[in-house]
Amino acid sequence: MPTDDPREGPVLVVDFGAQYAQLIARRVREAHVYSEIVPHTASAADLAARRPAGIILSGGPKSVNETPAPSIDPAVYDLGVPILGICYGAQLLTQQLGGVVDRTGRGEYGRTPLTVTASSPIFSDWPETAEVWMSHGDAITEVPSGFVATATSPDAPVAALHDPDRGIFGVQFHPEVVHTEHGRDLLERFLYDICHCPPSWTHTSIIESQVAAVRAQVGSSPVLCALSGGVDSAVAAALVHKAIGEQLTCVYVDTGLMRANESEQVEETFRRQFHIDLVHVKAADRFFEALAGVTDPETKRKIIGELFIRIFEEVARDLVVEKGRLEEGPDDEPAGYLVQGTLYPDVIESGSGTAATIKSHHNVGGLPDDLAFDLVEPLRLLFKDEVRAVGEELGLPHDIVWRQPFPGPGLAVRIVGEVTPERASILRAADAIVVEEVRKAGLYRDLWQSFAVLPAVRTVGVMGDGRTYAYPVVIRAVTSDDAMTADWARLPYDLLERLSSRIINEVEGVNRVALDITSKPPGTIEWE
Ligand code: XMP
Repeated sequence: MPTDDPREGPVLVVDFGAQYAQLIARRVREAHVYSEIVPHTASAADLAARRPAGIILSGGPKSVNETPAPSIDPAVYDLGVPILGICYGAQLLTQQLGGVVDRTGRGEYGRTPLTVTASSPIFSDWPETAEVWMSHGDAITEVPSGFVATATSPDAPVAALHDPDRGIFGVQFHPEVVHTEHGRDLLERFLYDICHCPPSWTHTSIIESQVAAVRAQVGSSPVLCALSGGVDSAVAAALVHKAIGEQLTCVYVDTGLMRANESEQVEETFRRQFHIDLVHVKAADRFFEALAGVTDPETKRKIIGELFIRIFEEVARDLVVEKGRLEEGPDDEPAGYLVQGTLYPDVIESGSGTAATIKSHHNVGGLPDDLAFDLVEPLRLLFKDEVRAVGEELGLPHDIVWRQPFPGPGLAVRIVGEVTPERASILRAADAIVVEEVRKAGLYRDLWQSFAVLPAVRTVGVMGDGRTYAYPVVIRAVTSDDAMTADWARLPYDLLERLSSRIINEVEGVNRVALDITSKPPGTIEWE
């Protein structure tokens, strides 16, 4: 029987594959309860060592009747910690505890009516029937001993079950998706009433705990942060600055490949608003010189990444020698701490290490790995939406906090062919129009990314009385949850019309506008 004592530890979400666990962990955190994702290979003793307040077994892409199918150490059921199994998780606990999961031949996919058939503390906010989101081929047909079935749906005879004595619950549907009515209520009842978790994980508490952690980690040592203009490094810098104030120096390298106004905004925000010691390196000339004549996409990325690191090293050395802002390490190398805007999904993914590298993604503004710095990663426990909320709470401008992702190599991967200052400024001007019009249409936050691309061809046109021979600009706008897959956005025709006419009228060197209607896969989001 679970005790009434609130446990100190997190709610652990056990991952059975395919990112189901991430959404559950985010929903738990939205209920202001801290959650972490753990692999299903963790032993019951590993889980118990975290002193979890509750354990949620996630959905997964497999069937429990396949071999091999991911499983969990059955000793977790004897830990006395409340457990909620969702979809695959519900089937797994049923099977491991002696019930039956059958391939009935009649699965349920999508919106499905659910009827609550017996009272259960997780259904206390539910009406007798509700629409839920299902996605299952197998069905639970017999509950394990000690369990009762508490809900049913047309093709899931046991759509929910529980063992009240052991505090073990299972639901065949997905309470974490928005299409399940009362899904949030169900999770809250589990967290608050069964696990006895206080709703204390708030943005203020995140900031307080990270500020304390950064102070404890760095003591009085100097700290360096590379700002890229993107949301992650900006929030990381603001958070670290709140923790240690003048010990922080930020470096912003203007590669000449930034979006319009990005450099001014970094200056304005960090130097003038936050009074952070900011080193602004204007290195556009060096980048264009290094990129002259280069057309191969991977070579461009390599050149940019390496030059960025070289410049960063030079700055770090100056900060030791001229300004005394950094320490000198054992081999006369600059030393201290380096802030990284690593997020929780990166931490989880680097644990599994399965994603294939399609393009060499280096984060410009990222880590020169031969520098003698220790890392400070104040966002490593946070999801992107939490990072944005923290950024707003820290007072960062909306424009930075809600900025769409931007690739480390900047506009270079959107300029097909040679990257020259002229071509970069054509693209920057067109891109600014795309951003402005998409914002005006109220679509900026709904789109994962929306930007302009400059191909390496020129086409014939006629403007006024004359023939033109100039570049087309391609509009690329996609919706996505995580950039792994993406769909081309169905932008309204009137928006496309405004984009076309403004870009052609206002950007010299452009006489045609095209729209990219390729999803990912097979296309990638960026053109290079
Ligand atoms: P692709 O083009 O591979 O892009 O579909 C997926 C996401 O990653 C971004 N991207 C990068 N980000 N360094 C980065 O930090 C890079 O080199 C890089 N290349 C692509 C891209 O903007 C999209 O969001």
